[in-house]
Amino acid sequence: MSPEEEKESPEKEFAGNTTLHGLNRIVIAPSGYFRVLWVLAILSSYSGFAYMFSTMIIDYFSYDTITDTKLEFDDEVIFPAVTICNMNKFDESKLKIIDFVYLSMFLYAVQLDVDTIIAGGAIPDETVNSTTEGMNVEDLLLQKGFDIHWNRMPLCIWKGVHCTERNFTHSFGHYGNCYTFNADADNPLKQSMQGSSQGFMAFIDLKVDEYTETYTAGGNAEVGLKLLVHDPREPPMMDTQGIALAPGNHAFVSVKRILYENHVPPWGVCEDRQLEYYDTYTLNGCYLECRSKHVVSNCSCRPYNLPGTAPTCDPTTMFTCVNDVLDQVIRGELKCDCPVPCRMTSYSTSVSYAGWPNRHTRTYLAPYWGMDSNYITANGVVFSVFYEKLNYQKITELKAMDGGQLASNIGGMMGLFIGASLLTLLEVWEYLWQRLKGFLGKHRRPTVIDVKTQPHDIERGIVFHK
Ligand SMILES: *[C@@H]1O[C@H](CO)[C@@H](O)[C@H](O)[C@H]1NC(C)=O
Ligand SMILES: *[C@@H]1O[C@H](CO)[C@@H](O)[C@H](O)[C@H]1NC(C)=O
Ligand SMILES: *[C@@H]1O[C@H](CO)[C@@H](O)[C@H](O)[C@H]1NC(C)=O
Repeated sequence: MSPEEEKESPEKEFAGNTTLHGLNRIVIAPSGYFRVLWVLAILSSYSGFAYMFSTMIIDYFSYDTITDTKLEFDDEVIFPAVTICNMNKFDESKLKIIDFVYLSMFLYAVQLDVDTIIAGGAIPDETVNSTTEGMNVEDLLLQKGFDIHWNRMPLCIWKGVHCTERNFTHSFGHYGNCYTFNADADNPLKQSMQGSSQGFMAFIDLKVDEYTETYTAGGNAEVGLKLLVHDPREPPMMDTQGIALAPGNHAFVSVKRILYENHVPPWGVCEDRQLEYYDTYTLNGCYLECRSKHVVSNCSCRPYNLPGTAPTCDPTTMFTCVNDVLDQVIRGELKCDCPVPCRMTSYSTSVSYAGWPNRHTRTYLAPYWGMDSNYITANGVVFSVFYEKLNYQKITELKAMDGGQLASNIGGMMGLFIGASLLTLLEVWEYLWQRLKGFLGKHRRPTVIDVKTQPHDIERGIVFHK
């Protein structure tokens, strides 16, 4: 080949002009020794780049996350909802004979009739000739369950100002009637000074002599108040969450607010579903709906404390069917598909106790509330819920590597190892395109370019003639 032809070869031209470092060095290397050196250097850089490139791509597609924890300080911190339930559903003195008959399966796990109840020591009242027809657990709870009228909650204070029953929202829970303070998620109360005197405080009379439950029928054997600090958008699940407070104490419940932001797949596992009976997707809401669905499909009725539109179960069905199904759900034999929500607010609590009441309260305040000094110790629960510090924690799940980082990493590696950029790709493409054109041209040659092949034919002819 002549030197002219050599210059026109696309490889030569590409290698000589490309901005890919090194390739032109091979062409213009002063000696064979340097040429070999350049070839070796280029081969090792290219394999280095290939290795880094593949590990970066693998890293990216493993969708790793990192967790970012921040402590945010604020002048005001949104106060959580506080739900309280007495660990007893029905007050004994309010129940009539017929109510006992109706609830007996639920309370004592045996079906009693009017005669056995009277034989057991109950004084006959005007309901002895009534029937249980038309009765339901929800109405009974509302009329004869735990309430927070002024005599049951003599003291309720928010930031030094008195609050009443009207500042609470009622709901049915595992423990019967429950009441939520600050339940309005759109207008939440805020705490603007730290400390126990700046939060929420209440004194509840448990009326422990009114307790009607036994452990054997799936009830409780404890005496106390169940308290849960939660996000108002999240329905409380009092059986599995919350803290239990015993009478004769003042519980100081110090709260920390934690916001979680989780990532959608493939980085995380969070998902916000649409719930049927709650506006916001929350884990508790999903669990409650799931429990309700399982119970309704097996027992054709809905327990009073679960959401839904099915008719409420009567106490006998509660005992014979509902409890079994709920046990199966709790044991995991019946599944609930509840993914983690993408944003959630949770509250962690730490509780400390002081004895309550002191001598002065016992002697002078107890009579004012209509209690004697022994009664108040055995029945009174006092709690304060407050922020000890006006800050909250924000835990965010972040992508370990996002698209921009991947691009800049690849860019860095390309620069470090092969001195290339996106525009260099165009150069390579231009070269490949020329090669392709040349290749296609060669294959068309036999039909088109007869003239150029003539010299060979002549030569051959000459040979042939010889
Ligand atoms: C219930 O029925 C019995 C017998 O019929 C009757 O003697 C009694 O007075 C009735 N009690 C009430 C409270 O109506
Ligand atoms: C309690 O309710 C009353 C009357 O509805 C209202 O004026 C007051 O602001 C409420 N207090 C709190 C702390 O929400
Ligand atoms: C609920 O229904 C399923 C399917 O019909 C059955 O296998 C299961 O034993 C039932 N559970 C209860 C507690 O009745």
